[in-house]
Amino acid sequence: MGNDVRLAVAGVGNNVSALLQGIEHYRHTFGELPLVGVTHPRLSGIGVDEIQCVAAFDIDPTKVGRSLAEAIHQGFNNFPRIVDAIGEPAVVEHGIRDDEVRQTDVDHVVQHLRRTRSEVLLISLPTSRPAAALSYAEAALSAGVAVVNCSADPVVRVPDLLRRFSSASLPLLGDDLASQFGSSLVHRELLDLLSRRGLRVDGTYQVNLGGNEDFRNLRDSGEPKLASKLNVLSSVPGVASLSVIPSGGHVPFLGDRKVAHISIEGRGWAGSRVVVELRLDVQDSSNAAGVIIDLVRMAADGRRRGVGGFHEDAIPLLKSPPTRR
Ligand SMILES: NC(=O)c1ccc[n+]([C@@H]2O[C@H](COP(=O)([O-])OP(=O)(O)OC[C@H]3O[C@@H](n4cnc5c(N)ncnc54)[C@H](O)[C@@H]3O)[C@@H](O)[C@H]2O)c1
Repeated sequence: MGNDVRLAVAGVGNNVSALLQGIEHYRHTFGELPLVGVTHPRLSGIGVDEIQCVAAFDIDPTKVGRSLAEAIHQGFNNFPRIVDAIGEPAVVEHGIRDDEVRQTDVDHVVQHLRRTRSEVLLISLPTSRPAAALSYAEAALSAGVAVVNCSADPVVRVPDLLRRFSSASLPLLGDDLASQFGSSLVHRELLDLLSRRGLRVDGTYQVNLGGNEDFRNLRDSGEPKLASKLNVLSSVPGVASLSVIPSGGHVPFLGDRKVAHISIEGRGWAGSRVVVELRLDVQDSSNAAGVIIDLVRMAADGRRRGVGGFHEDAIPLLKSPPTRR
């Protein structure tokens, strides 16, 4: 408990709900084997249950001023309730607005991060809020806090910012998560497999549907996410035509589930036709939490050891890292 990672979050949405409820779940099951859903029960000596959320920021009036335990079920959040309650005592503070970045808000975030002795700030804002994402990262740098950026907006890919985090011996990990078992990962692995077996892909597409707020937001402002997904998929050789629709629409009925339709048409021996149709149906925010847990522990460990900047170990967990794959 005394050595728990002291986590702060900017954006108390579905990702954070899935992360914190999951950590609470593992607090009760940590000794059990196999530990289902966890890649590394311990990473750099830090257990999956050894993270405490000590600070939180949001701008949604239904969340600000509430305890985290309440806030994770407010607003548009629709990740299901999987534990009775979470142990985190933090109260959600007002953060940095998207439409107008005010210095007083930034100063408040810096002071609160210092007061709570936060080690890592998880930026889990809706995608397409670049000014707010960068301002949270600047605030973390001023407060001596490492950063993990979940959104597809460029934070780690801003060279000057990355250089300053490196100089301050603070990790800066992102951008955008490659979910634990998500559509980009599965799609790329399938394309890789066809390529390795000598097939040629004439055309492939991926359409994603979901019923959470992230999908509603990506339907209207999906450009950064599209670029991020293309970054993952366009590295596979031998693909003649590739189309990706990050959010084919917001389907409330699906709740926090995500359904991805992946189609691949190619040619094998002597030009013979091969068609793959795949439907992937997952709990969207758990899929994010399953990698956030590792990124947060990498960032905390790096900060404790004084190893700043981007860490290459994080590359498989990200869609848009600053270095090329
Ligand atoms: N599988 C996944 O869910 C997944 C995978 C990869 C990346 N991501 C990305 O992670 C991010 C978060 O996803 P989510 O599903 O939790 O989103 P969400 O919409 O459920 O939550 C976002 C939260 O941020 C808050 N917010 C908005 N502006 C803010 C500001 N300026 N300051 C503080 N809080 C603010 C909102 O009120 C909301 O509580 C998104 O950018 C998403 O694209 C998600």
